[in-house]
This record gives sequence, structure tokens and C-alpha cells, in this order.
Amino acid sequence: MIGRDCVVVIGSGMMGSGIGAMAALAGHPVTLVDVQEERVRAGKERAIACIRLREENGLASSQEAQRAVALLHTSVDTQTAVRSAFLVIEAIIENLEAKQTLFRQLDAMLPPEVPICSNTSGLRITEISALCECHPERTVTTHFWLPAHLVPLVEVVMGDKTDEAVALAVREELKKWKKSPVLVRRDLPGQLANRVFQAIIRESIDIVASGLASAEDVDTAIAAGMAMRFPVWGPLMHLDAIGTPLGLSVQETVLPSICADKVANSYIKDMVARGDLGAKTGKGFYDWSERSIDEAIAKRDAFIIEACKILNKLDN
Ligand SMILES: NC(=O)c1ccc[n+]([C@@H]2O[C@H](COP(=O)([O-])OP(=O)(O)OC[C@H]3O[C@@H](n4cnc5c(N)ncnc54)[C@H](O)[C@@H]3O)[C@@H](O)[C@H]2O)c1
Repeated sequence: MIGRDCVVVIGSGMMGSGIGAMAALAGHPVTLVDVQEERVRAGKERAIACIRLREENGLASSQEAQRAVALLHTSVDTQTAVRSAFLVIEAIIENLEAKQTLFRQLDAMLPPEVPICSNTSGLRITEISALCECHPERTVTTHFWLPAHLVPLVEVVMGDKTDEAVALAVREELKKWKKSPVLVRRDLPGQLANRVFQAIIRESIDIVASGLASAEDVDTAIAAGMAMRFPVWGPLMHLDAIGTPLGLSVQETVLPSICADKVANSYIKDMVARGDLGAKTGKGFYDWSERSIDEAIAKRDAFIIEACKILNKLDN
């Protein structure tokens, strides 16, 4: 009998490589699987770059990094790769049919105790596993946030058939990867974090559309205000800090006047129709002719790295 000590990540693109890096840093042998040698080689290079970035920034020791690089393997043969898997994470393209086909194959290949996870950002795990005839109860979403090698959040989402014990075991495993996994008990659009984020985006667009403030000022209000507290406490701990009577009173005053639309704002629909598609066309909520999205991404990642270091210090 072959020992099962390996994490297999299927799809070695942007997300799969970051996920593989974190599994290897946790000390597991990792096999990255993709459809072509060239892609899986590129995926491994990306995973190594993720490991090096954490090492260079003090988020992994050089020993851990060296060991993690040595634990990375590649394959273009799913069936052989999963023979030693104790955990499989799918991170292929966001296409329901492709994911359903892969899940059906994996379900037939793997013994029942091996969880099969999907990194889907928008599809329901219930549908992804709809063709699994053997053990759909071991299927679960593990939605890593981009960049997977830096952002700690992973949403562990149960489908209609997921066994809660499997979801809890996957969550425990991800904690060992220095992740902050959350359990989402129902398979709804937006999982957990994107439901909250969409409420913020809806209000933000409405504020700009109604002329209350500019896009830049909305972003500043969030970045320089509530976001400064959020790495340490979320909105619900905030309510406990200020006291629920004050929280209730603010809700009663503000809720009647904020946006409760159930459809996308015509402001963003018009932007899309005009071709104002954001950074890639040079115009979105911001004028990108004088700004660089690459610089913004570099600044975002530099901040996340520093925030991770501070949080590590505060937690120890
Ligand atoms: N990019 C993001 O911001 C983000 C964030 C969270 C979750 N996700 C989700 O993660 C998944 C992967 O996204 P990505 O951005 O890494 O995509 P990507 O295009 O960078 O990588 C996908 C990889 O999967 C490979 N692939 C396709 N079909 C395959 C198959 N049958 N077997 C093996 N490999 C296969 C492709 O060759 C490609 O290398 C998607 O479901 C996506 O929705 C993406």
C-alpha cells in the first residue's frame, strides 16, 4: 500500500502555484499538475518565486524555504499524481463543465478519506461535484484569496452534500499552512467574504454615482479608516467594542438612507458599455493614464507582507 503524504494541486496557474507553495512551506510533498509540461514547469517556477518572496521578507526561514523548494514536484498525469495524495486541491480554469469532469474522475480514483477541494471563486461546490457518484460528501470549496501565498484567508465552503467533519478537517489542515480559514456552512453566491465585499462595493458605487464623494475619496475613507482596524478586529468585534446599543442606533439612522439595490448600479453598467474597463483600458473609476496598476499591485503586496509580519508578532 502506498503512503499518502502528498498534497496534489491540479492547475498550476496563478492560484495553483501559490497554493502549492504554501503546502510545501507547511512541510508537505506537493505535486503540481497541469495539462502540459511547459505550463507545469512555469507553475513550479512561480511556486518557487512565492517561497523565495516569503523567505526574503522574513515570513519563512531559509531552512523552511529550502525544504519547501525540494518538496515541489510536477506531473501532467493526474491519475499517477493522486496515488500518494492525502489532499487534492483543484485550481483549474473557472469552467463548470471542466471542473465537473475532473471531480468525477478524481472521485473515482481516490479512496473516500481523501478530501477533494475546489478553489472556485464563483461556482457552487454542490454543482462542481454533481457528477461524483462515489463520495460527494468529501468535496468542499477551499477558496484561497489572491495572492494565495500572501493573503491568509481561505473560505472553506460546504456544499449540500459535504460532510461537516471533512470541512472541519480541511480547515484544521489549512491552519497548519499559516492560513486563516473560515467555515461557510451553506453554498451561496459570494461564499462569505465576497458577500460582505459586495455590500461595500454597492455602497461605494452608489456614493460616487450620487455625487456624494469621488472614487478616490471613497477608497481613502475605507483605506485610511475602517481598513486600518480590520486586520485586528472585524465589524462585529467593533460593535462589541462600541457597545451594541450604539451600533443599533447608528444602524437605525443610517440604513434607511444607504443603497439596498438588488441589481447592479447603472453607473457601472454604463462604464462597461462605454469601454471604461479599468486599468487595462486606462479608464475606470480612476484615470490610469498617469498611474500604474503594477505599482499599485506592488504596493498592495508590500503592505500585506508588512501586515503579516505585524500580525505574527502580535499573535506570538
Ligand atoms: N485569479 C484570481 O484572482 C482567483 C482568486 C481566487 C480563486 N480563483 C480561482 O482559482 C482557479 C484558478 O484560477 P487561476 O487564476 O489560477 O487560473 P489560471 O488560468 O492562472 O490557471 C489555471 C491553470 O489550470 C490549467 N488547467 C486547465 N484545465 C486543466 C485540467 N483539466 N487539468 C489540469 N490543469 C488544467 C491551465 O492550463 C492553467 O495553467 C479558478 O477556479 C479561479 O476562479 C482565482
